[in-house]
Amino acid sequence: MTLFKRCDQVAAWRKLLELRDAKSSFNLSSAFADNPYRFEHFSAQAPHVFIDLSKCMWDEEVQSALLDLAEQTHVLDLRDALFRGESVNTTEQRPAMHWLLRAPGAGSNPPLSAHLWGLHKEVLNTREAFLNFAEQVRADPAITDVVNIGIGGSDLGPQMAVKALAEFVTPSKRFHFVSNIDAHEIEGVLSALDPNKTLFLVCSKSFTTIETMTNALTARHWFQAHGGTNIERHFVGLTSNTVLAKEFGIETTFGFWDWVGGRYSVWSSIGLAVAIAIGAQAFNSFLQGAHEMDEHFKTATPRENLPLKLGLLDVWYRNFLHYKSRNIAPYHSALARLPAYWQQLDMESNGKSVDKESQSLSYATSSVLWGEPGTNGQHAFFQMLHQGTDVIPVEFLVVKTPSHNHLKHHELLLANALAQAQAFMVGDNNTNRARYFPGNRPSLFTVLERLTPASLGALIALSEHRTFVAGAVWGINSFDQYGVELGKTLTLNIMKQYANAEFKEMDPSTQGLLLKLRKSST
Ligand code: F6P
Repeated sequence: MTLFKRCDQVAAWRKLLELRDAKSSFNLSSAFADNPYRFEHFSAQAPHVFIDLSKCMWDEEVQSALLDLAEQTHVLDLRDALFRGESVNTTEQRPAMHWLLRAPGAGSNPPLSAHLWGLHKEVLNTREAFLNFAEQVRADPAITDVVNIGIGGSDLGPQMAVKALAEFVTPSKRFHFVSNIDAHEIEGVLSALDPNKTLFLVCSKSFTTIETMTNALTARHWFQAHGGTNIERHFVGLTSNTVLAKEFGIETTFGFWDWVGGRYSVWSSIGLAVAIAIGAQAFNSFLQGAHEMDEHFKTATPRENLPLKLGLLDVWYRNFLHYKSRNIAPYHSALARLPAYWQQLDMESNGKSVDKESQSLSYATSSVLWGEPGTNGQHAFFQMLHQGTDVIPVEFLVVKTPSHNHLKHHELLLANALAQAQAFMVGDNNTNRARYFPGNRPSLFTVLERLTPASLGALIALSEHRTFVAGAVWGINSFDQYGVELGKTLTLNIMKQYANAEFKEMDPSTQGLLLKLRKSST
Protein backbone atom coordinates (compact mmCIF):
# COMPACT_ATOMS: atom_id res chain seq x y z
CA MET A 1 0.00 0.00 0.00
CA THR A 2 1.17 3.49 -0.82
CA LEU A 3 2.53 5.56 2.02
CA PHE A 4 0.04 8.20 3.13
CA LYS A 5 1.39 11.67 3.80
CA ARG A 6 -0.90 14.57 4.66
CA CYS A 7 -0.34 17.37 2.18
CA ASP A 8 -0.48 20.09 4.85
CA GLN A 9 2.40 18.43 6.70
CA VAL A 10 5.01 18.28 3.95
CA ALA A 11 7.73 20.82 3.18
CA ALA A 12 6.33 21.66 -0.28
CA TRP A 13 3.04 22.81 1.26
CA ARG A 14 4.91 25.30 3.46
CA LYS A 15 6.97 26.38 0.47
CA LEU A 16 3.80 27.00 -1.53
CA LEU A 17 2.40 29.12 1.30
CA GLU A 18 5.56 31.22 1.21
CA LEU A 19 5.40 31.52 -2.57
CA ARG A 20 1.77 32.55 -2.42
CA ASP A 21 2.65 35.38 -0.02
CA ALA A 22 5.78 36.38 -1.91
CA LYS A 23 3.87 36.50 -5.20
CA SER A 24 0.71 38.19 -4.02
CA SER A 25 1.20 40.87 -6.66
CA PHE A 26 1.71 38.34 -9.47
CA ASN A 27 0.50 39.83 -12.74
CA LEU A 28 -0.20 37.77 -15.83
CA SER A 29 0.57 40.51 -18.37
CA SER A 30 3.88 41.23 -16.66
CA ALA A 31 4.68 37.51 -16.58
CA PHE A 32 4.33 37.46 -20.39
CA ALA A 33 6.46 40.59 -20.68
CA ASP A 34 9.15 38.95 -18.53
CA ASN A 35 9.09 35.68 -20.42
CA PRO A 36 8.42 35.84 -24.17
CA TYR A 37 8.27 32.02 -24.21
CA ARG A 38 5.64 31.76 -21.50
CA PHE A 39 3.05 30.38 -23.95
CA GLU A 40 5.46 27.65 -25.10
CA HIS A 41 6.57 26.90 -21.54
CA PHE A 42 3.10 26.62 -20.09
CA SER A 43 1.19 24.88 -22.86
CA ALA A 44 1.13 21.14 -23.26
CA GLN A 45 0.07 18.57 -25.78
CA ALA A 46 -1.34 15.24 -24.58
CA PRO A 47 -3.06 12.67 -26.82
CA HIS A 48 -5.82 14.52 -28.72
CA VAL A 49 -5.85 17.43 -26.25
CA PHE A 50 -3.80 20.62 -26.25
CA ILE A 51 -4.04 22.97 -23.27
CA ASP A 52 -2.59 26.44 -22.88
CA LEU A 53 -1.88 26.96 -19.19
CA SER A 54 0.07 30.19 -19.69
CA LYS A 55 -2.82 32.43 -18.57
CA CYS A 56 -2.97 30.60 -15.24
CA MET A 57 -1.80 32.30 -12.06
CA TRP A 58 1.48 30.49 -11.70
CA ASP A 59 5.08 30.61 -12.71
CA GLU A 60 7.97 28.21 -12.96
CA GLU A 61 8.75 28.38 -9.23
CA VAL A 62 5.18 27.62 -8.24
CA GLN A 63 4.96 24.78 -10.73
CA SER A 64 8.16 23.25 -9.40
CA ALA A 65 6.91 23.47 -5.82
CA LEU A 66 3.64 21.83 -6.90
CA LEU A 67 5.56 18.99 -8.52
CA ASP A 68 7.46 18.64 -5.23
CA LEU A 69 4.13 18.53 -3.44
CA ALA A 70 3.04 15.67 -5.72
CA GLU A 71 6.24 13.82 -4.96
CA GLN A 72 6.03 14.35 -1.22
CA THR A 73 2.40 13.21 -1.10
CA HIS A 74 3.20 10.14 -3.25
CA VAL A 75 0.73 11.03 -5.98
CA LEU A 76 2.53 9.03 -8.65
CA ASP A 77 2.86 6.03 -6.34
CA LEU A 78 -0.87 6.20 -5.83
CA ARG A 79 -1.35 6.47 -9.61
CA ASP A 80 0.70 3.28 -10.00
CA ALA A 81 -1.42 1.60 -7.32
CA LEU A 82 -4.53 2.63 -9.27
CA PHE A 83 -3.15 0.98 -12.40
CA ARG A 84 -2.02 -2.10 -10.48
CA GLY A 85 -5.63 -2.60 -9.41
CA GLU A 86 -4.99 -2.06 -5.69
CA SER A 87 -7.85 -1.07 -3.38
CA VAL A 88 -7.51 2.68 -3.77
CA ASN A 89 -11.18 3.02 -2.80
CA THR A 90 -10.27 2.50 0.82
CA THR A 91 -13.67 2.94 2.46
CA GLU A 92 -15.31 0.38 0.19
CA GLN A 93 -12.13 -1.70 -0.08
CA ARG A 94 -12.22 -1.90 -3.84
CA PRO A 95 -9.97 -1.01 -6.68
CA ALA A 96 -11.05 1.69 -9.12
CA MET A 97 -10.39 0.21 -12.53
CA HIS A 98 -12.37 2.24 -15.02
CA TRP A 99 -9.11 2.40 -16.97
CA LEU A 100 -9.25 -1.39 -17.50
CA LEU A 101 -12.53 -0.94 -19.38
CA ARG A 102 -10.74 0.90 -22.15
CA ALA A 103 -7.58 -1.18 -22.28
CA PRO A 104 -7.29 -2.62 -25.79
CA GLY A 105 -7.70 -6.29 -26.59
CA ALA A 106 -4.29 -7.66 -27.24
CA GLY A 107 -0.79 -6.89 -26.05
CA SER A 108 -1.20 -4.47 -23.17
CA ASN A 109 1.91 -2.53 -22.45
CA PRO A 110 3.18 -3.18 -19.83
CA PRO A 111 1.49 -6.56 -19.63
CA LEU A 112 -1.26 -6.98 -17.05
CA SER A 113 -0.76 -9.10 -13.94
CA ALA A 114 -2.44 -12.54 -13.98
CA HIS A 115 -5.31 -11.25 -11.83
CA LEU A 116 -5.96 -8.21 -14.02
CA TRP A 117 -5.54 -10.28 -17.14
CA GLY A 118 -8.44 -12.51 -16.00
CA LEU A 119 -10.62 -9.49 -15.30
CA HIS A 120 -9.69 -7.91 -18.58
CA LYS A 121 -10.83 -11.04 -20.39
CA GLU A 122 -14.23 -10.63 -18.74
CA VAL A 123 -14.20 -6.95 -19.76
CA LEU A 124 -13.47 -7.84 -23.37
CA ASN A 125 -16.17 -10.53 -23.48
CA THR A 126 -18.77 -8.18 -22.04
CA ARG A 127 -17.66 -5.41 -24.37
CA GLU A 128 -17.98 -7.70 -27.36
CA ALA A 129 -21.46 -8.77 -26.22
CA PHE A 130 -22.83 -5.26 -25.73
CA LEU A 131 -21.21 -3.93 -28.89
CA ASN A 132 -22.72 -6.81 -30.90
CA PHE A 133 -26.06 -5.98 -29.38
CA ALA A 134 -25.57 -2.30 -30.28
CA GLU A 135 -24.92 -3.27 -33.89
CA GLN A 136 -28.06 -5.44 -33.96
CA VAL A 137 -30.15 -2.53 -32.70
CA ARG A 138 -28.58 -0.19 -35.24
CA ALA A 139 -29.47 -2.62 -38.01
CA ASP A 140 -33.04 -3.07 -36.78
CA PRO A 141 -35.37 -0.64 -38.59
CA ALA A 142 -38.22 -1.64 -36.27
CA ILE A 143 -36.52 0.25 -33.42
CA THR A 144 -36.78 3.99 -34.01
CA ASP A 145 -36.31 5.30 -30.46
CA VAL A 146 -33.90 4.46 -27.66
CA VAL A 147 -34.71 5.66 -24.13
CA ASN A 148 -31.92 5.63 -21.54
CA ILE A 149 -33.39 5.51 -18.03
CA GLY A 150 -30.75 6.23 -15.41
CA ILE A 151 -29.41 9.00 -13.18
CA GLY A 152 -26.02 10.36 -12.08
CA GLY A 153 -23.27 8.39 -13.79
CA SER A 154 -25.91 6.21 -15.44
CA ASP A 155 -27.23 9.28 -17.26
CA LEU A 156 -24.63 12.05 -17.40
CA GLY A 157 -21.93 10.08 -19.23
CA PRO A 158 -24.14 8.51 -21.91
CA GLN A 159 -26.19 11.67 -22.37
CA MET A 160 -23.18 13.97 -22.59
CA ALA A 161 -21.39 11.65 -25.06
CA VAL A 162 -24.41 11.09 -27.35
CA LYS A 163 -24.94 14.86 -27.56
CA ALA A 164 -21.24 15.60 -28.00
CA LEU A 165 -20.89 13.10 -30.83
CA ALA A 166 -24.04 14.19 -32.68
CA GLU A 167 -22.05 14.30 -35.91
CA PHE A 168 -21.43 10.54 -35.63
CA VAL A 169 -24.89 9.50 -34.43
CA THR A 170 -27.00 7.32 -36.71
CA PRO A 171 -29.87 9.33 -38.20
CA SER A 172 -32.08 6.23 -38.12
CA LYS A 173 -32.83 6.49 -34.40
CA ARG A 174 -33.76 9.09 -31.85
CA PHE A 175 -32.17 9.06 -28.40
CA HIS A 176 -33.92 10.15 -25.23
CA PHE A 177 -32.69 10.42 -21.65
CA VAL A 178 -34.89 10.16 -18.59
CA SER A 179 -33.22 10.72 -15.24
CA ASN A 180 -35.41 12.83 -12.99
CA ILE A 181 -38.04 11.42 -10.63
CA ASP A 182 -40.11 14.39 -11.77
CA ALA A 183 -42.69 12.70 -14.02
CA HIS A 184 -42.87 15.73 -16.28
CA GLU A 185 -39.69 14.41 -17.81
CA ILE A 186 -40.75 10.83 -18.56
CA GLU A 187 -44.23 11.91 -19.55
CA GLY A 188 -42.79 14.30 -22.12
CA VAL A 189 -40.60 11.57 -23.57
CA LEU A 190 -43.16 8.74 -23.61
CA SER A 191 -45.97 10.81 -25.08
CA ALA A 192 -44.16 10.96 -28.42
CA LEU A 193 -43.24 7.26 -28.62
CA ASP A 194 -44.63 4.05 -30.06
CA PRO A 195 -43.95 1.24 -27.54
CA ASN A 196 -43.34 -1.38 -30.21
CA LYS A 197 -40.67 0.79 -31.83
CA THR A 198 -38.92 1.76 -28.60
CA LEU A 199 -35.98 0.20 -26.79
CA PHE A 200 -35.62 1.05 -23.08
CA LEU A 201 -32.17 0.85 -21.53
CA VAL A 202 -32.55 0.57 -17.77
CA CYS A 203 -29.23 1.85 -16.63
CA SER A 204 -28.28 1.47 -12.99
CA LYS A 205 -25.15 0.07 -11.40
CA SER A 206 -27.03 -0.87 -8.24
CA PHE A 207 -30.47 -1.42 -9.79
CA THR A 208 -31.89 0.07 -6.58
CA THR A 209 -31.76 3.81 -7.30
CA ILE A 210 -35.26 5.07 -6.54
CA GLU A 211 -35.46 7.50 -9.44
CA THR A 212 -34.40 4.92 -12.00
CA MET A 213 -36.53 2.11 -10.60
CA THR A 214 -39.61 4.35 -10.43
CA ASN A 215 -39.07 5.58 -13.99
CA ALA A 216 -38.42 2.03 -15.24
CA LEU A 217 -41.69 0.82 -13.67
CA THR A 218 -43.57 3.75 -15.17
CA ALA A 219 -42.09 2.95 -18.56
CA ARG A 220 -43.07 -0.70 -18.21
CA HIS A 221 -46.67 0.20 -17.24
CA TRP A 222 -46.88 2.63 -20.12
CA PHE A 223 -45.46 0.00 -22.48
CA GLN A 224 -48.09 -2.55 -21.48
CA ALA A 225 -50.93 -0.04 -21.36
CA HIS A 226 -50.17 1.24 -24.86
CA GLY A 227 -50.16 -2.07 -26.67
CA GLY A 228 -46.50 -2.92 -26.23
CA THR A 229 -45.78 -6.59 -26.70
CA ASN A 230 -42.66 -8.49 -25.83
CA ILE A 231 -41.11 -6.76 -22.83
CA GLU A 232 -38.08 -9.03 -23.20
CA ARG A 233 -37.25 -7.44 -26.55
CA HIS A 234 -37.91 -3.86 -25.51
CA PHE A 235 -36.23 -3.61 -22.07
CA VAL A 236 -32.53 -4.12 -21.54
CA GLY A 237 -30.66 -3.89 -18.22
CA LEU A 238 -27.22 -2.34 -17.80
CA THR A 239 -26.11 -3.07 -14.28
CA SER A 240 -23.71 -4.79 -11.94
CA ASN A 241 -26.76 -6.26 -10.14
CA THR A 242 -28.02 -8.76 -12.70
CA VAL A 243 -30.12 -10.53 -10.05
CA LEU A 244 -32.34 -7.48 -9.46
CA ALA A 245 -32.57 -6.84 -13.19
CA LYS A 246 -33.91 -10.35 -13.64
CA GLU A 247 -36.44 -9.83 -10.86
CA PHE A 248 -37.60 -6.72 -12.68
CA GLY A 249 -38.41 -8.97 -15.64
CA ILE A 250 -35.47 -8.04 -17.82
CA GLU A 251 -34.05 -10.89 -19.87
CA THR A 252 -31.19 -9.14 -21.67
CA THR A 253 -28.64 -7.72 -19.28
CA PHE A 254 -25.11 -6.48 -19.83
CA GLY A 255 -23.18 -6.40 -16.62
CA PHE A 256 -20.17 -4.63 -15.19
CA TRP A 257 -18.24 -4.73 -11.96
CA ASP A 258 -18.34 -3.17 -8.50
CA TRP A 259 -14.89 -1.73 -9.13
CA VAL A 260 -16.37 0.71 -11.66
CA GLY A 261 -17.74 3.82 -9.97
CA GLY A 262 -20.98 5.22 -11.40
CA ARG A 263 -19.34 8.45 -12.55
CA TYR A 264 -16.57 6.44 -14.26
CA SER A 265 -18.89 3.97 -15.97
CA VAL A 266 -19.55 5.37 -19.46
CA TRP A 267 -16.81 3.04 -20.74
CA SER A 268 -18.75 -0.02 -19.61
CA SER A 269 -22.12 -1.38 -20.74
CA ILE A 270 -23.55 1.82 -19.21
CA GLY A 271 -22.33 3.37 -22.46
CA LEU A 272 -24.70 1.19 -24.54
CA ALA A 273 -26.73 4.21 -25.68
CA VAL A 274 -23.49 5.74 -26.99
CA ALA A 275 -22.56 2.48 -28.73
CA ILE A 276 -25.97 2.25 -30.41
CA ALA A 277 -25.73 5.89 -31.40
CA ILE A 278 -22.25 5.86 -32.94
CA GLY A 279 -21.65 2.15 -33.63
CA ALA A 280 -19.12 -0.36 -32.33
CA GLN A 281 -16.19 0.94 -34.33
CA ALA A 282 -16.60 4.52 -33.15
CA PHE A 283 -17.22 3.33 -29.58
CA ASN A 284 -13.89 1.50 -29.77
CA SER A 285 -12.26 4.76 -30.89
CA PHE A 286 -13.83 6.46 -27.88
CA LEU A 287 -12.21 3.81 -25.65
CA GLN A 288 -8.94 4.09 -27.56
CA GLY A 289 -8.74 7.87 -27.06
CA ALA A 290 -9.24 7.38 -23.33
CA HIS A 291 -6.67 4.59 -23.27
CA GLU A 292 -4.11 6.85 -24.93
CA MET A 293 -4.71 9.36 -22.15
CA ASP A 294 -4.26 6.58 -19.56
CA GLU A 295 -0.91 5.77 -21.12
CA HIS A 296 0.06 9.43 -21.12
CA PHE A 297 -0.82 9.71 -17.42
CA LYS A 298 1.15 6.55 -16.66
CA THR A 299 4.26 7.34 -18.65
CA ALA A 300 4.74 11.07 -19.29
CA THR A 301 7.36 12.78 -17.17
CA PRO A 302 5.87 14.90 -14.36
CA ARG A 303 6.65 18.12 -16.24
CA GLU A 304 4.86 16.89 -19.34
CA ASN A 305 2.10 15.04 -17.58
CA LEU A 306 -1.08 16.98 -18.30
CA PRO A 307 -3.46 15.30 -15.81
CA LEU A 308 -0.81 15.74 -13.11
CA LYS A 309 -0.31 19.42 -13.91
CA LEU A 310 -4.04 20.14 -14.03
CA GLY A 311 -4.70 18.39 -10.72
CA LEU A 312 -1.86 20.34 -9.12
CA LEU A 313 -3.18 23.58 -10.59
CA ASP A 314 -6.53 22.79 -8.95
CA VAL A 315 -4.77 22.38 -5.59
CA TRP A 316 -2.86 25.64 -6.04
CA TYR A 317 -6.02 27.53 -6.90
CA ARG A 318 -8.17 25.98 -4.18
CA ASN A 319 -5.79 25.88 -1.23
CA PHE A 320 -3.41 28.74 -1.84
CA LEU A 321 -5.25 31.30 -3.97
CA HIS A 322 -8.58 30.29 -2.37
CA TYR A 323 -10.63 30.22 -5.57
CA LYS A 324 -13.89 28.54 -4.69
CA SER A 325 -15.25 27.91 -8.13
CA ARG A 326 -14.28 26.98 -11.70
CA ASN A 327 -16.26 28.01 -14.74
CA ILE A 328 -16.39 25.54 -17.62
CA ALA A 329 -16.91 27.29 -20.96
CA PRO A 330 -17.13 24.85 -23.88
CA TYR A 331 -17.29 26.83 -27.12
CA HIS A 332 -19.16 24.04 -28.90
CA SER A 333 -22.88 23.60 -28.50
CA ALA A 334 -22.61 19.80 -28.66
CA LEU A 335 -20.69 19.96 -25.38
CA ALA A 336 -23.63 21.53 -23.56
CA ARG A 337 -23.79 18.67 -21.01
CA LEU A 338 -20.04 18.63 -20.37
CA PRO A 339 -20.21 20.99 -17.35
CA ALA A 340 -22.88 18.79 -15.74
CA TYR A 341 -20.80 15.69 -16.43
CA TRP A 342 -17.69 17.28 -14.90
CA GLN A 343 -19.70 18.46 -11.92
CA GLN A 344 -20.48 14.91 -10.91
CA LEU A 345 -17.01 13.66 -11.74
CA ASP A 346 -15.22 16.27 -9.68
CA MET A 347 -17.65 17.25 -6.96
CA GLU A 348 -18.88 13.74 -6.14
CA SER A 349 -15.30 12.46 -6.17
CA ASN A 350 -13.57 15.22 -4.25
CA GLY A 351 -16.29 16.91 -2.19
CA LYS A 352 -14.93 15.38 1.04
CA SER A 353 -13.91 16.68 4.48
CA VAL A 354 -11.95 13.80 5.98
CA ASP A 355 -8.76 12.14 4.86
CA LYS A 356 -8.18 8.45 4.28
CA GLU A 357 -7.42 8.02 7.98
CA SER A 358 -10.75 9.66 8.91
CA GLN A 359 -9.04 12.81 10.17
CA SER A 360 -10.69 16.18 9.50
CA LEU A 361 -9.06 18.30 6.85
CA SER A 362 -7.59 21.71 7.60
CA TYR A 363 -7.82 22.67 3.93
CA ALA A 364 -10.48 22.97 1.25
CA THR A 365 -11.23 20.30 -1.36
CA SER A 366 -13.41 20.29 -4.50
CA SER A 367 -14.37 23.64 -5.92
CA VAL A 368 -17.75 24.36 -7.45
CA LEU A 369 -17.84 23.58 -11.16
CA TRP A 370 -20.43 25.19 -13.36
CA GLY A 371 -20.87 26.48 -16.86
CA GLU A 372 -22.73 26.90 -20.11
CA PRO A 373 -21.60 26.77 -23.70
CA GLY A 374 -20.06 29.90 -25.16
CA THR A 375 -21.08 32.33 -26.41
CA ASN A 376 -24.33 32.07 -24.42
CA GLY A 377 -22.50 32.46 -21.11
CA GLN A 378 -20.99 35.74 -22.30
CA HIS A 379 -24.47 37.26 -22.36
CA ALA A 380 -25.41 35.91 -18.96
CA PHE A 381 -22.81 35.52 -16.22
CA PHE A 382 -19.59 36.74 -17.86
CA GLN A 383 -20.35 40.20 -16.46
CA MET A 384 -19.71 38.81 -13.00
CA LEU A 385 -16.61 36.92 -14.16
CA HIS A 386 -15.11 40.14 -15.57
CA GLN A 387 -16.15 42.72 -12.99
CA GLY A 388 -17.52 40.83 -10.00
CA THR A 389 -15.74 40.67 -6.65
CA ASP A 390 -14.75 36.99 -6.89
CA VAL A 391 -11.99 35.69 -9.09
CA ILE A 392 -13.26 32.60 -10.91
CA PRO A 393 -10.88 30.84 -13.28
CA VAL A 394 -12.50 30.11 -16.63
CA GLU A 395 -11.76 26.97 -18.63
CA PHE A 396 -12.26 27.66 -22.34
CA LEU A 397 -12.62 24.69 -24.63
CA VAL A 398 -12.66 25.08 -28.39
CA VAL A 399 -12.68 22.72 -31.35
CA LYS A 400 -10.51 23.81 -34.27
CA THR A 401 -12.48 22.13 -37.06
CA PRO A 402 -16.25 22.24 -36.81
CA SER A 403 -18.66 19.71 -38.28
CA HIS A 404 -20.54 22.34 -40.31
CA ASN A 405 -19.63 24.55 -43.25
CA HIS A 406 -20.49 27.92 -41.74
CA LEU A 407 -16.94 29.20 -41.63
CA LYS A 408 -17.94 32.72 -40.62
CA HIS A 409 -19.84 31.40 -37.59
CA HIS A 410 -16.89 29.30 -36.55
CA GLU A 411 -14.36 32.10 -36.90
CA LEU A 412 -16.60 34.33 -34.83
CA LEU A 413 -17.00 31.61 -32.22
CA LEU A 414 -13.24 31.12 -31.89
CA ALA A 415 -12.62 34.87 -31.93
CA ASN A 416 -15.09 35.24 -29.07
CA ALA A 417 -13.34 32.60 -26.98
CA LEU A 418 -9.92 34.13 -27.61
CA ALA A 419 -11.19 37.66 -26.94
CA GLN A 420 -12.80 36.66 -23.66
CA ALA A 421 -9.64 34.95 -22.43
CA GLN A 422 -7.63 37.99 -23.48
CA ALA A 423 -10.06 40.37 -21.77
CA PHE A 424 -9.83 38.40 -18.52
CA MET A 425 -6.08 38.82 -18.58
CA VAL A 426 -5.53 42.36 -19.88
CA GLY A 427 -8.60 44.08 -18.42
CA ASP A 428 -9.34 47.70 -19.22
CA ASN A 429 -7.89 50.48 -17.15
CA ASN A 430 -10.82 52.75 -17.98
CA THR A 431 -11.09 55.93 -15.95
CA ASN A 432 -14.86 55.50 -15.93
CA ARG A 433 -15.19 53.17 -12.92
CA ALA A 434 -18.25 51.42 -14.33
CA ARG A 435 -16.26 50.52 -17.42
CA TYR A 436 -13.11 49.49 -15.55
CA PHE A 437 -12.02 45.84 -15.90
CA PRO A 438 -9.44 44.75 -13.31
CA GLY A 439 -7.94 42.10 -15.60
CA ASN A 440 -5.33 39.70 -14.26
CA ARG A 441 -8.06 37.05 -14.13
CA PRO A 442 -6.93 33.53 -14.96
CA SER A 443 -8.16 31.16 -17.61
CA LEU A 444 -6.97 28.06 -19.35
CA PHE A 445 -7.61 27.24 -22.97
CA THR A 446 -8.18 23.72 -24.31
CA VAL A 447 -8.04 22.96 -28.03
CA LEU A 448 -9.27 19.80 -29.74
CA GLU A 449 -8.48 19.46 -33.42
CA ARG A 450 -11.92 17.91 -33.95
CA LEU A 451 -14.65 16.64 -31.68
CA THR A 452 -14.44 12.91 -32.40
CA PRO A 453 -15.06 9.78 -30.36
CA ALA A 454 -11.30 9.52 -29.75
CA SER A 455 -10.80 13.14 -28.70
CA LEU A 456 -13.87 13.06 -26.46
CA GLY A 457 -12.59 9.83 -24.86
CA ALA A 458 -9.21 11.44 -24.23
CA LEU A 459 -10.77 14.60 -22.82
CA ILE A 460 -12.92 12.67 -20.35
CA ALA A 461 -10.07 10.41 -19.24
CA LEU A 462 -7.95 13.53 -18.76
CA SER A 463 -10.52 15.00 -16.39
CA GLU A 464 -10.88 11.69 -14.51
CA HIS A 465 -7.14 11.63 -13.86
CA ARG A 466 -7.05 15.33 -13.02
CA THR A 467 -9.69 14.72 -10.35
CA PHE A 468 -7.70 11.73 -9.11
CA VAL A 469 -4.52 13.81 -8.79
CA ALA A 470 -6.17 16.56 -6.73
CA GLY A 471 -7.83 13.91 -4.51
CA ALA A 472 -4.49 12.14 -4.09
CA VAL A 473 -2.77 15.33 -2.93
CA TRP A 474 -5.63 16.03 -0.53
CA GLY A 475 -5.35 12.48 0.83
CA ILE A 476 -9.05 11.78 0.41
CA ASN A 477 -10.85 8.81 -1.09
CA SER A 478 -12.08 10.09 -4.47
CA PHE A 479 -14.03 6.90 -5.17
CA ASP A 480 -16.82 6.79 -2.60
CA GLN A 481 -19.89 9.06 -2.33
CA TYR A 482 -21.45 8.64 1.10
CA GLY A 483 -22.55 12.27 0.94
CA VAL A 484 -25.50 11.28 -1.22
CA GLU A 485 -26.86 8.66 1.21
CA LEU A 486 -28.46 10.71 4.01
CA GLY A 487 -30.90 12.45 1.69
CA LYS A 488 -31.92 9.10 0.22
CA THR A 489 -32.69 7.68 3.70
CA LEU A 490 -34.63 10.77 4.76
CA THR A 491 -36.65 10.68 1.54
CA LEU A 492 -37.82 7.15 2.35
CA ASN A 493 -38.66 8.24 5.90
CA ILE A 494 -40.68 11.20 4.63
CA MET A 495 -42.43 8.99 2.08
CA LYS A 496 -43.66 6.75 4.89
CA GLN A 497 -44.94 9.70 6.89
CA TYR A 498 -46.40 11.30 3.79
CA ALA A 499 -48.78 8.37 3.64
CA ASN A 500 -49.75 8.04 7.31
CA ALA A 501 -48.98 11.53 8.70
CA GLU A 502 -47.26 10.37 11.88
CA PHE A 503 -44.51 13.01 11.74
CA LYS A 504 -42.00 11.04 13.74
CA GLU A 505 -38.56 12.55 14.28
CA MET A 506 -39.30 15.45 12.01
CA ASP A 507 -38.19 19.03 12.59
CA PRO A 508 -40.92 21.71 12.62
CA SER A 509 -39.88 23.20 9.30
CA THR A 510 -39.98 19.89 7.41
CA GLN A 511 -43.25 19.03 9.16
CA GLY A 512 -44.79 22.41 8.27
CA LEU A 513 -43.74 22.14 4.65
CA LEU A 514 -44.99 18.58 4.43
CA LEU A 515 -48.38 19.63 5.78
CA LYS A 516 -48.53 22.46 3.29
CA LEU A 517 -47.63 20.18 0.40
CA ARG A 518 -50.05 17.47 1.53
CA LYS A 519 -52.88 19.99 1.72
CA SER A 520 -52.17 21.38 -1.72
CA SER A 521 -52.03 17.86 -3.12
CA THR A 522 -55.60 17.06 -2.05
O1 F6P B 1 -26.55 8.97 -5.73
C1 F6P B 1 -25.30 8.98 -6.29
C2 F6P B 1 -25.09 7.80 -7.18
O2 F6P B 1 -24.79 6.69 -6.42
C3 F6P B 1 -24.00 8.08 -8.20
O3 F6P B 1 -22.74 7.87 -7.71
C4 F6P B 1 -24.40 7.18 -9.32
O4 F6P B 1 -23.79 7.54 -10.51
C5 F6P B 1 -25.89 7.40 -9.32
O5 F6P B 1 -26.23 7.52 -7.97
C6 F6P B 1 -26.70 6.32 -9.96
O6 F6P B 1 -26.50 5.08 -9.34
P1 F6P B 1 -26.94 3.75 -10.04
O7 F6P B 1 -26.19 3.63 -11.31
O8 F6P B 1 -26.60 2.66 -9.06
O9 F6P B 1 -28.42 3.83 -10.28
